[in-house]
Amino acid sequence: MIDIGTGDGLFVYQSARRNPQKFYIGVDANSRPLEKVSEKVHRKPAKGGLSNVLFIQAAVEDLPSELNGVADEVHVHFPWGSLLRAVAAGDLEALRNLRRICLPRAVLEVIVGLDPERDSSEIERLGLPALTIEHIDSALAAEYKNAGFEIFERGVMASSEWPEFQTSWAKRLKGNTNRTLIYIIARAC
Ligand SMILES: C[S@@+](CC[C@H](N)C(=O)[O-])C[C@H]1O[C@@H](n2cnc3c(N)ncnc32)[C@H](O)[C@@H]1O
Repeated sequence: MIDIGTGDGLFVYQSARRNPQKFYIGVDANSRPLEKVSEKVHRKPAKGGLSNVLFIQAAVEDLPSELNGVADEVHVHFPWGSLLRAVAAGDLEALRNLRRICLPRAVLEVIVGLDPERDSSEIERLGLPALTIEHIDSALAAEYKNAGFEIFERGVMASSEWPEFQTSWAKRLKGNTNRTLIYIIARAC
């Protein structure tokens, strides 16, 4: 499993702990949030160490070729900046990079949580369209398809309906009632 824009790696770390038979890779463009968790996984097992995890500093625009075709599951949770633009505006090159790291039939899960008011300057800066079901169906689905992904599930949830996502940003953003969560689940084809 590969988590792109993993931040502090909490989702990857906890998933790896729960499933020792599966290998987990957390990728983020910024090395700073990766520092703590990268150090932790190298401790002794009794002190939180894990042998089925790897963290990599890389941007979605420039994923290492060693990741080609290794993932049967790719996650992008609460992306920001160019990663948000890639999945929400359908940046073809970045989506193709996500496809490149997938095995055939791999599942891509994208979760975006935006507050149209609070995040207005970032939305404007990135030139993002309003991320609605209509936008996903009328525009994004075709971009994902061009990149080799078939969207088979998508939906919108109010912040009160959010399930327990084990990511630091999910916890941080959950209290805000203006924030809607949009999810896209696609299959590599
Ligand atoms: C809001 S944080 C979410 C972190 C984590 N997924 C979570 O849910 O807690 C967004 C992350 O995306 C990363 N990011 C932004 N642009 C990126 C890019 N082009 N490639 C990879 N990571 C990127 C940022 O460094 C940041 O850690």
